[in-house]
Amino acid sequence: MDIELVDANDCLVTDSTGQEYLDLYGGHAVISVGHKHAHYVDRVEDQINKIAFYSNSVINKLQTELADKLGKLSGYEDYGLFLCNSGAEANENALKLASFTNKKSKVISFQKGFHGRTSRAIAATDSPKYHSSADTVHDVQFVELGNLQMVEEALKKGDVSAVIIEGLQGLGGIYDPGADFLLGLRALCTRYETLLILDEVQSGYGRTGKFFAHQYATGLKPDIITVAKGMGNGFPIAGVLIAPHIPAWYGMLGTTFGGNHLACSAGIAVLDIIKEESLMKNASELGAYLIRELQQLTEVKEVRGRGLMIGIELETAIAPMRKQLVKEHHILTGVAANPNVLRLLPPLTLKKEHADQFLTALKAVFMNQTEKSSS
Ligand SMILES: Cc1ncc(COP(=O)(O)O)c(C=O)c1O
Repeated sequence: MDIELVDANDCLVTDSTGQEYLDLYGGHAVISVGHKHAHYVDRVEDQINKIAFYSNSVINKLQTELADKLGKLSGYEDYGLFLCNSGAEANENALKLASFTNKKSKVISFQKGFHGRTSRAIAATDSPKYHSSADTVHDVQFVELGNLQMVEEALKKGDVSAVIIEGLQGLGGIYDPGADFLLGLRALCTRYETLLILDEVQSGYGRTGKFFAHQYATGLKPDIITVAKGMGNGFPIAGVLIAPHIPAWYGMLGTTFGGNHLACSAGIAVLDIIKEESLMKNASELGAYLIRELQQLTEVKEVRGRGLMIGIELETAIAPMRKQLVKEHHILTGVAANPNVLRLLPPLTLKKEHADQFLTALKAVFMNQTEKSSS
């Protein structure tokens, strides 16, 4: 998008000409608690005035505070936490941890999945155009989302270290694996001694209305869960949640920047705000409202997603519509690998008037396109 952003407040961003935009993209699902939230700013500012960084060679109680709060809010209090800096790094470490644990190396991943740009993460991503020859050395098999039989065929050989799957597929175009499929995967992974990794980098942190998208599959407990994006509301921080049965030893995974003081203060502020402002409830209710309203529009082929992670599929490419939304209605939205899908990933602080503003703009764009095609 040909705009330079210089300021922001909650769900609004401002460009260098002073033009305000409604942010329904959240800087790629990163802005969870709204831009420049007062508690977030205070906590980060307070920390920078104390100590911004020291390595993991000393005690950092902010890490414990973050881990405790994350455990409580997510329902994973008994899991361990490794802190790092990006979604790709979280998945890279998750795959490595699986391999350390079961001494196998093959990975099962899913068609249209995305897991990041580092070597094993991109190898597990269904986008050959991003695979360099250094990435294709990894043994990864892509399986159709929803095809449990194919997963079992692959697992039966006994050489699969991990199955990695997004809680709700994002970049691919917002595809829900479904509770039955996820629970089926869990059972198969247990049977064939393969670790189940839930990539919640995009779909986690309350975005879908529950802390993790996979929690719609009641009772599902992955072996490893990865988080990033919404975790720091823009401050780079990511994490790997590790089930208690996985034997981890000190130094097994490591990073210089991961879990630093500033990152932790940002991460703690985010968790405080999600809890205090009931943002998961807001995401769930506003998301349901948006999805219901979008389903009424005849121009829309399909609406997918949950909470504030929504894919709107048209019969044709969304590019002209997205451009019009930016230029004429000053609304930012996201794209997907599928050119016919528009993605909504707004801050979880979104208000009903913002949702209505978007719906009104979308109707105007559709009307305009109908007029143009009939003239
Ligand atoms: C599901 C998922 N996993 C991993 C990543 C990679 O995260 P990062 O860009 O922070 O490395 C992304 C980024 O879009 C993602 O959507």
